[in-house]
Amino acid sequence: MTIPAHIAEAVVDPKAYADWDRSHEAFAWLRKNAPLDVAEIEGFDPFWVVSKHADIQNIEKQNDLFHNEDRSATLTNIETDKKVREMMGGSPNLLRSLVQMDNPDHMQYRRLTQAWFMPQNLRKLEDRIREIARGFIDKMADKGTECDFARDVAFLYPLHVIMEVLGVPEIDEPRMLKLTQELFGAQDPEVNRSGKEVSDSDTGLANIQATVADFFTYFVEMTEDRRKNPREDLASVIANGEVYGKPLGHLEAMSYYIIAATAGHDTTSNTTGGALWALAENQDQFRKLKDDLSLIPSMVEESIRWETPVKHFMRTATADTEIAGKQIKKNDWLFLAYPSGNRDEDVFDDPYSFKIDRSPNKHVAFGYGAHVCLGQHLGRMEMRVLWEELLPRLQSVELNGKPTRVQANFVSGPKSIPIKFKMN
Ligand code: HEM
Repeated sequence: MTIPAHIAEAVVDPKAYADWDRSHEAFAWLRKNAPLDVAEIEGFDPFWVVSKHADIQNIEKQNDLFHNEDRSATLTNIETDKKVREMMGGSPNLLRSLVQMDNPDHMQYRRLTQAWFMPQNLRKLEDRIREIARGFIDKMADKGTECDFARDVAFLYPLHVIMEVLGVPEIDEPRMLKLTQELFGAQDPEVNRSGKEVSDSDTGLANIQATVADFFTYFVEMTEDRRKNPREDLASVIANGEVYGKPLGHLEAMSYYIIAATAGHDTTSNTTGGALWALAENQDQFRKLKDDLSLIPSMVEESIRWETPVKHFMRTATADTEIAGKQIKKNDWLFLAYPSGNRDEDVFDDPYSFKIDRSPNKHVAFGYGAHVCLGQHLGRMEMRVLWEELLPRLQSVELNGKPTRVQANFVSGPKSIPIKFKMN
């Protein structure tokens, strides 16, 4: 069947993700009535919406049958797709990072930084990350009894961590935050480059292109510097790394920095904000956590499921195949709806409740298979450390106004979370 128009609209409309209930209601409807079916929306090529947890995993684990690079790796309308291909010599993506690669390149490029992202290597960063977390918590305490947790803590702390590990100096952090928000918030008039509602693909693409050009300028300089003066940072690994016995290609190197500099904090910021919002709204869970801090790791995991900051990735079938009884044709495009997989009633008891001790919690917020989030251990560690430092000091917290969310159908989360709190 074809998915009803209002449901398909809610899947693609950036505003539905700012509303949250609208996108969750649409996904609930899909899981029940059309778990794997085609959305036909004016201006877009038809695509399958994959709303069940099992189907998302099944598709992601077959990474030779479902590719990231053959068509756009994120949802794009026909007009934008055409323009990107014209600009990029036929390629459907403006960048070529790990999420826009397939094997054999994907494996080779992932191997370059894989060891760096493993827990053994990250352990040596924990003390420094804790120090950074304490700094932000002190600043929060200095605010007295009220703050905007999204703007004052959640956006800034993961940004500082990733910039430090990447090697970007503190003075450039506001610029990196702005560029990231422009990239992921391209559909939100409050944060995008032009500061306007994006009603045509020319404006949307021009906004993104200008942002990407600024990133390139910045990271070209950084590459030159790290080639001359290598340091212990991640930028030095990328600048001096080799793939197939040669330095990384220009587009690939730039894309590597950009994914680390953007995916590396916006996702974690959204989850951190989402966690505090959920704790403020669920006082019983907040109290339970305060009484037993050993629940922090499982609260972090639940907050990742709860928020699911990456709302989708796309895959393209490389051959005719069958998934969940449906005939998928070669070159068909599939939308992996992570927030839907993470509310799947067949996998999670009471999926709409925020339960800090949920176990098991096999969410798909980090994706699955060959492309599973490379930064998952870093993200988890950052969040665990923040809560280990914040919770013993945070005596009470409640919402102090209505939180808002970013309008975006790719990476999004809370934009503002006004709170009242008591801290010692
Ligand atoms: C890929 C989510 C934090 C770097 C991904 C994917 C998702 C995701 C859904 C795609 C996986 C797939 O296609 O199967 C998240 C969430 C985070 C987070 C929810 C935090 C709560 C981070 C951090 C970094 C990072 C801290 C650090 C740089 C990456 C990279 C990839 C990726 C490099 C591409 C992996 C590949 O395609 O091989 N992430 N991420 N992420 N993430 Fe994260």
